[in-house]
Amino acid sequence: MSEAEAEPGPPEAPAAAKPRRVQSGVATAEAVLSAHVAGNAELFPRIMALHVPPGAVVADVTFGGGVFWKRVPPGLYRLLATDLSTGTDFRALPYADGSVDAVVLDPPYMEGLLRAKAETRGGLGTHAALRTAYSSGREVAGAASGRWHQAVLDLYLEASGEARRVLRDHGVLIVKCQDEVSANRQELTHVQLVCALAELGFYARDLFVVVRPNRPNVARLVRQVHARKNHSYFLVFQKVPDGESVARYRTRDVPIARRPGSPGGS
Ligand SMILES: C[S@@+](CC[C@H](N)C(=O)[O-])C[C@H]1O[C@@H](n2cnc3c(N)ncnc32)[C@H](O)[C@@H]1O
Repeated sequence: MSEAEAEPGPPEAPAAAKPRRVQSGVATAEAVLSAHVAGNAELFPRIMALHVPPGAVVADVTFGGGVFWKRVPPGLYRLLATDLSTGTDFRALPYADGSVDAVVLDPPYMEGLLRAKAETRGGLGTHAALRTAYSSGREVAGAASGRWHQAVLDLYLEASGEARRVLRDHGVLIVKCQDEVSANRQELTHVQLVCALAELGFYARDLFVVVRPNRPNVARLVRQVHARKNHSYFLVFQKVPDGESVARYRTRDVPIARRPGSPGGS
């Protein structure tokens, strides 16, 4: 019998109605955005609120003048504030392995501030305010081995290695950085850090662009070759446990541990 002559089969049962998908959440214009025309003091609390749970043990290892913390409600986190100027080198932190929930790292980001020769080091004369704000002026004594921009990267990487040691698994590392042109070379520090920290076992969980609210002054511009930078970054990393793949890691909540004996813990 040909197909055309086939007996009609029983009528098909109507398809079961699919349950309606209910979307949760609320419409809002208040979501934290990735780019901000703002100062560090305004943005930092919002980054913390998004990525670090209240009550977390947070080691700010480059506390400096404490600008980041000016608008963070006191007591929201268990803050461990240290700096080279208070005698703690971020390459040798006084904390046990896996004892900290989050680390904040904001070292000098310009190679000029790390030059060995005092007379060619950045932040001289009329730039003294720059050195005061971005360095303690003592970094060179124990500075990393590299020269020029490599000295900047070395410092970030050594600090990140030590941060990884003290962070517990899935803990957060917040890194402040700015790209720079050094020795006539464009150095995209934020890209270099994302790549290098992946090698160290950090997943790049988020990235914020901070645009200066005011225009930078340019002294002695003869011929402009590269765009003058008026933005910097906060990079948010998450510690991938040993043995797990950074490439396959997915963003996880950061549950904070309350262990007796952890720094700042009871
Ligand atoms: C850009 S400032 C930090 C500003 C700080 N985030 C704030 O909110 O005020 C850089 C800081 O890194 C510190 N620093 C540089 N090398 C260091 C090191 N090896 N260990 C610890 N701190 C260091 C400097 O003393 C300086 O205070």
